[in-house]
Amino acid sequence: MLSRTPACRHYGVVPEGSELQPIPGDKGLPLLGHALAVATLPTEFLQSRFETYGPVSWMRGFTKPFVLALGPDAAQEVLTNNDRVFSQQGQEFFTGRFFDRGLMFLDFEEHNFHRRIMQQAFTRDRLAGYVQSMDVVAGAAAAALGDGELIVHRYLKRTLLDIATVVFMGGRPGPQSDPLNKASTDCLRAASALIRFPVPGLRWAAGVRGRRILENYFLANIDARRAFDGEDLFAALCRADDEAGNRFTDRDVVNHMIFLMSAATDTSAAAATAVLHQLALHPQWQDRVRAEFSAEIGDGRLDLDTLDRLQVLGMVINESMRLTAPVPSVCRKALVDTVIQGHFVPADSMVIVAPWLNHYLPSLWTDPHTFDPERFGAARREDRSHRLAFMPFGAGAHKCIGMHFATNVVKVVVHHLLRDHRIEMRPGYTLEWDFTALPTPTDGFPVLIRRVDESDHNSAPAAT
Ligand code: HEM
Repeated sequence: MLSRTPACRHYGVVPEGSELQPIPGDKGLPLLGHALAVATLPTEFLQSRFETYGPVSWMRGFTKPFVLALGPDAAQEVLTNNDRVFSQQGQEFFTGRFFDRGLMFLDFEEHNFHRRIMQQAFTRDRLAGYVQSMDVVAGAAAAALGDGELIVHRYLKRTLLDIATVVFMGGRPGPQSDPLNKASTDCLRAASALIRFPVPGLRWAAGVRGRRILENYFLANIDARRAFDGEDLFAALCRADDEAGNRFTDRDVVNHMIFLMSAATDTSAAAATAVLHQLALHPQWQDRVRAEFSAEIGDGRLDLDTLDRLQVLGMVINESMRLTAPVPSVCRKALVDTVIQGHFVPADSMVIVAPWLNHYLPSLWTDPHTFDPERFGAARREDRSHRLAFMPFGAGAHKCIGMHFATNVVKVVVHHLLRDHRIEMRPGYTLEWDFTALPTPTDGFPVLIRRVDESDHNSAPAAT
């Protein structure tokens, strides 16, 4: 491990006698730095940094300089983190305060310890139970829809929050859960607040209040959950243990639940919105997905084995997350002076890794801007062009623990919506994404929906 050189604050220089490269880059606009470009143009912006400066560069964000570690090799070096120099304090800078001691904010041994216990709440058996509840809630949401306009993101968010109420907390979906769901959303939104202290009416203050509401709720209910051998995630975390019999304390369970609720819903809503956007743009793929539902499920209930067999939908989900990564970037903090791709990185640097850029590199993907789910099919497997070519769920020790949960919840929600409905783009409509937190359509993404008839179920064109 390299030593710490706190005096070296400038990226254009390296310590005397070092053979390492300095990091190239620039400040951007006065005061704002590159904050606006980062908020509005993620892939174009990242691509231009990559082309101008190569895999490692620096830039100023709103208040701080950041190092960009771009492309699959730089991402692998940072996320594999062999020397344990990159800390989750980088993630904490953006979101940590509201998700204090959530799994994503723990480092090294302590992180391993917690992750091993939490894994028990994500086994295949547990997932099978969660899928049963997802099926019921998503089925009821789709059954209530009529023909006309649907605001996709609002519908997905509502359905996913109802699923979280049942699957995470063992509650009943509906308005009585709204205060908890709102508290959770407020915590997440606070992370992207520009004014980062509590001004009444602004995001940060709402986040502080949200955190307090969630803490009070989980603390008040924990004894009951510990005594209850339920199917929900809250009960699972209360009872989870590792091989040595270690369990979470009450505080641990509360901290993990608060982070899990936020980690799960907005990411899955972003992914499912991206899927429905692509399926509205590409009706032939909507037909293929619907034909697969008829062939694999018919009128039957969903379970994990059935969902595994939905391979066309699986390819569509992957391709949609490639084109719109629900988590466009992750951040780490260098604890000591270190090296990325031969460049000297001073201690305390905030290092950004951008999965999304990898998804668009022409060296890894054919026609990267084209929607082409077959690239994930057995004959091509472009996602294997590099270990980190496709990384919507991150990589390394902090890779998403809810990856299978997420893929299945998106499959369940999309299945219930599209089995009985066709979605169509409104004439002349173009979806605009807001990237200031996780990708969200600026207007919620209105589409037209109508119920399908028998012929729609059998109208899939031959595979291309
Ligand atoms: C499509 C949906 C999702 C996406 C794209 C996604 C993406 C990610 C990414 C990129 C990370 C890595 C963060 C880092 O490297 O610092 C992560 C971590 C995490 N995710 Fe997800 N996530 C999704 C859904 C979920 C769900 C449904 C859950 C829980 C049910 C969940 C729980 C977590 C947790 C606990 C971590 C931290 C893991 C650790 O630090 O060991 N995520 N997720």
